[in-house]
Amino acid sequence: MKALVVYYSRTGTTKILGEAIAKGLGAEAEELIDQKKRLGLRPFRWLIAGMDARRKKLTSIKVQKPPQDYDLILIGTPIWASRMTPAVRTYLESQNLEGKKVGLFCTGGNGDRERYFDELKLMVPKSTLVGTLGVRTLDVRSGAYVEKLRIFLRGFGVELPPPLPPAPAPTAITPVQTPSTQVQPPANETTTSGPDTQTNP
Ligand SMILES: Cc1cc2nc3c(=O)[nH]c(=O)nc-3n(C[C@H](O)[C@H](O)[C@H](O)COP(=O)(O)O)c2cc1C
Repeated sequence: MKALVVYYSRTGTTKILGEAIAKGLGAEAEELIDQKKRLGLRPFRWLIAGMDARRKKLTSIKVQKPPQDYDLILIGTPIWASRMTPAVRTYLESQNLEGKKVGLFCTGGNGDRERYFDELKLMVPKSTLVGTLGVRTLDVRSGAYVEKLRIFLRGFGVELPPPLPPAPAPTAITPVQTPSTQVQPPANETTTSGPDTQTNP
């Protein structure tokens, strides 16, 4: 089965998840680029991004890999103002996914909320929904998402390799005894400390 992972990512979180899904499935990946600038000029672009998502605005994107060439398409978005991003909305509105198997994934501060998929699901009515995966941003960033990803990929008959065993705890380091470098004066010599205060008679 030929699979494609399509995602939009503004700051890299959804990209980490999307690329991990693609790697696990042996799928191709396509990152959607929103032609509207979304980074910088804080907080203005951030606020506009939220408003655009809330108002279900479309944007301009370039699609390099037509979904017609694939059997399974996994589509991922960050959550903005409880909605999908304009880039992913534009993708879903402009691409024909009829008859395709479709999986959906998202990341968000509270990205594990199932309700975030409600509208996404409505936008692929003629596809067969094969799975959803919602992950919190912090879990993606910390790597804790891997267990959820493992369960998600099992639905596609893919078993991720087991996690590496934890590294052994470091053993206490005993200080190495070094020979004393202090130079002792010969027994018949005396030492003075401080300026020589002896005066001639
Ligand atoms: C404009 C904006 C609005 C957001 N609104 C939500 C939200 O409603 N719910 C949520 O859980 N996360 C929200 N977030 C957080 C992002 O969904 C989260 O940081 C996501 O993992 C970022 O993905 P990215 O790094 O792939 O862009 C919002 C982020 C932005 C920029």
